[in-house]
Amino acid sequence: MKLTKNNLDLMKKVFEIKPCVVLRAKYSQACTPEFFKFYDENINVGDHKVLDVEDYGRFISTRSSRREPAITRVITSLAYKVDKKMISLAEGMPNEGVFPFKKLSMDMKKGGGIMMEGKELAAALQYVPSQGLPSLLTELRKFQEDIHRPPDVPRDLMITNGGQHGIYQCAELLLEPGDPIVTTEYAYTGLHSTLKPYQPEILGVPEDNDGLIPETLECILEDRLSRGLKMPKMMYVIPTGSNPTGTVIPVERRMKIYALACKYDFIIVEDDPYMFLNYSGRPIASFLSMDKAGRVIRLDSVSKVVSAGLRGGWVTAPSPLLERLQLHSQAELLHPCTLSQAILLKLVQCRETLGSYLKSARDLYWSRRDALHSALQPLEGLADWAVPDAGLFFWLRVRDVDDVYSMIHTAFERGLMLVPGQAFIYDSNASCQYIRLTFSKIRLEDMSTASQILSEVIRDEQKKSLEKEPKRYATES
Ligand SMILES: Cc1ncc(COP(=O)(O)O)c(C=O)c1O
Repeated sequence: MKLTKNNLDLMKKVFEIKPCVVLRAKYSQACTPEFFKFYDENINVGDHKVLDVEDYGRFISTRSSRREPAITRVITSLAYKVDKKMISLAEGMPNEGVFPFKKLSMDMKKGGGIMMEGKELAAALQYVPSQGLPSLLTELRKFQEDIHRPPDVPRDLMITNGGQHGIYQCAELLLEPGDPIVTTEYAYTGLHSTLKPYQPEILGVPEDNDGLIPETLECILEDRLSRGLKMPKMMYVIPTGSNPTGTVIPVERRMKIYALACKYDFIIVEDDPYMFLNYSGRPIASFLSMDKAGRVIRLDSVSKVVSAGLRGGWVTAPSPLLERLQLHSQAELLHPCTLSQAILLKLVQCRETLGSYLKSARDLYWSRRDALHSALQPLEGLADWAVPDAGLFFWLRVRDVDDVYSMIHTAFERGLMLVPGQAFIYDSNASCQYIRLTFSKIRLEDMSTASQILSEVIRDEQKKSLEKEPKRYATES
């Protein structure tokens, strides 16, 4: 058979490669600790058409649809599958003999450790398929099945360089320049920086204390539909501990949002790096767990709970979309760092140890959240905030100040760094009353000083506002 480099189907036939496998519910009835439960047996999202390969065609962007597999990458995938007796003059892999490392060992804080040497270490330093280290993929497939129990739709996962990489990939996969995209009114900066070159139309849905409001989303979509405007193909949402607002979307709302995705035909990109930092003690079903129709792309990351520098993340997506994402990875980085993937594998292989680390991480942030909340008491009457049920952020609305931007500079001069709400608005020139406070790394003993400086800065700013527009602020406050 003649190889034509332009034909993915042919390549698949030649090498008998199935780039995507079906995640099947292989979950045994053995108990999953509540901590690892991101599904709800009682959820019923109703019946919706399951998207098929042709349906996905309308979501895939022109740029993405032009991508073709690199023959050498296909051969690398194949090399991991063929019999060891196969003789190869094909692969461009380096000879492991040139790797200068003999042994890698990392002691864990809670005892035990990670050790790699010999063939195992050599494999952790070698090229791997773009989808990821095969043994890690196998382990993560089990992990996703156990903790989300996604409905039986053809889907698979791919390793990414953290969640940000996943966001970038989703934009490339789904968006045409100028496309509308649904997200929250205030959204993660990394989304905006990804989107800027696309010059999209941002449909920013307001949030209340329970996050994105589905009824408002429906009004926005219905209005667009009735006016014949282009409808969004993608929604980006941080369901648990949103950055910056700290909100957690309750399961009833998640179901309504999912139903809207089916009704108005869009894909939900669920970016969930704060899933394990849930201080409510109640497990919440993920969008993936209710995805009967194949409309969810889920982004996971270990950055906030294991290590940010490992750049460990993975994307779980319906197979036809994942196939495209693999082609993006082939072209942009061949694959994420194998050594990081090998370390991640060691961590997820022992669910009990992982659970204990994740719980410690949650408890550490939980106590820090409470500490900052107590420290913020001097701000009562000057600002409004809700105590976040998850994540790492307080989202403060400063009273009687239209725009916090200059206040942030004053605070900086007095020794306190803050992020203005503008960082989370697509149009960063807009005025904004909000600031984001992160409690992850500040020294506990600095919290009350920070709060003191902040309250003084707010008072000074309010005074300036009152001097500028005495009537308005006198009636408002
Ligand atoms: C919601 C959200 N997504 C993605 C990221 C990027 O994280 P990663 O290190 O996994 O790329 C962040 C980091 O702050 C985040 O808050």
